Amino acid sequence: MNAAPHSRTLILGIDTSCDDTGVGVVELAGGRVRVLANRVWSQTVHAQYGGVMPELASREHVERIDAVMADALAEAGVTVDELGAVAATSGPGLVGALLVGLMYGKGVAQALGVPFHATHHLEGHIFAAASEAELAPPFLALVVSGGHTHLFDVPREGEYVLVGATKDDAAGEAFDKIARLSGLGYPGGPAIAEAALTGNADAVPFKEPLQGQKGFDFSFSGLKTAALLAHRAGASAPDLAASFQKAAVHTLVKTTRRAAEATGRDTVVVSGGVAANRALREAFAGTGLRVVFPGRGLNTDNGAMIALAGAAAITAGRAPGTLAEGAEAYAPLAALAPQA
Ligand code: KG4
Ligand code: ZN
Repeated sequence: MNAAPHSRTLILGIDTSCDDTGVGVVELAGGRVRVLANRVWSQTVHAQYGGVMPELASREHVERIDAVMADALAEAGVTVDELGAVAATSGPGLVGALLVGLMYGKGVAQALGVPFHATHHLEGHIFAAASEAELAPPFLALVVSGGHTHLFDVPREGEYVLVGATKDDAAGEAFDKIARLSGLGYPGGPAIAEAALTGNADAVPFKEPLQGQKGFDFSFSGLKTAALLAHRAGASAPDLAASFQKAAVHTLVKTTRRAAEATGRDTVVVSGGVAANRALREAFAGTGLRVVFPGRGLNTDNGAMIALAGAAAITAGRAPGTLAEGAEAYAPLAALAPQA
């Protein structure tokens, strides 16, 4: 569907890729987007197992999605028949979990006779930032979450070139693991950020990962090992948190800034759960680049970001999908950049 410049389309967005049931409503009017609702049910059932149990995640999505949908419509102040398009995550993620939101979204679209957009989870994370500023390519996009550390160049609408990625742990995973070893609890990101406020960021020396590399990859396993050794040597949790956060922020910002210089991009989108980190936001603000972060509540997994990606697809005139599209556990957003 190609939206006329002055039409108003209400887009439903659904994400059930992992352990959050997310439903959001976004208004697309005159080429501008506005988040009207963003409701997320975060599953707690997994805590007792120390990791996400896929079958339990699927079941809980099935049990919760109706209520989350009703809450989202109420928050937006709209009825279901006012929706003009539906977007749902088709991958990557846990297949059983993805299927719940995907099938639900297809059902709503079919019942209403409106277009359906199967949406890539990382495109959702990137377009979460469209809540804050107009996002027109070219730009760079750094997605830093519990499962992803990807740096994309977006030269034009719908085209993604992977210029860097983690060689081992994702950034959020490193925050989570170091928080666990320091006894700071889960999720580790917010816990590390809070403990860091009272710690000395220079107390534990961390070697910069991949120092001197020509490319734009990331690595967090060295920081993790160094943190373990420092913990065993008696470093306090606040000192360890502050020092690790400083090192993680430094490597993310430095590598992204080098990529911006190499590609000539002056706009950088920073999204995903770790983009909520205040030290990271402050460090990016000091780069002189135009840095766009998602609005509040849009960093971690949610449905509104999927509706925002749907809005971008509609604005670009991309054809909606068919109801035959399936869920994909593994779904790279981009091919690797050709080596220079
Ligand atoms: O995007 P997300 O909800 O999940 C994935 O798609 O993976 O991101 C969750 C991750 C967790 O690892 C969490 O520790 C991290 O984001 N995180 C943070 C902060 N808030 C969440 N990391 C650093 N600082 C934060 N303030
Ligand atoms: Zn995510």
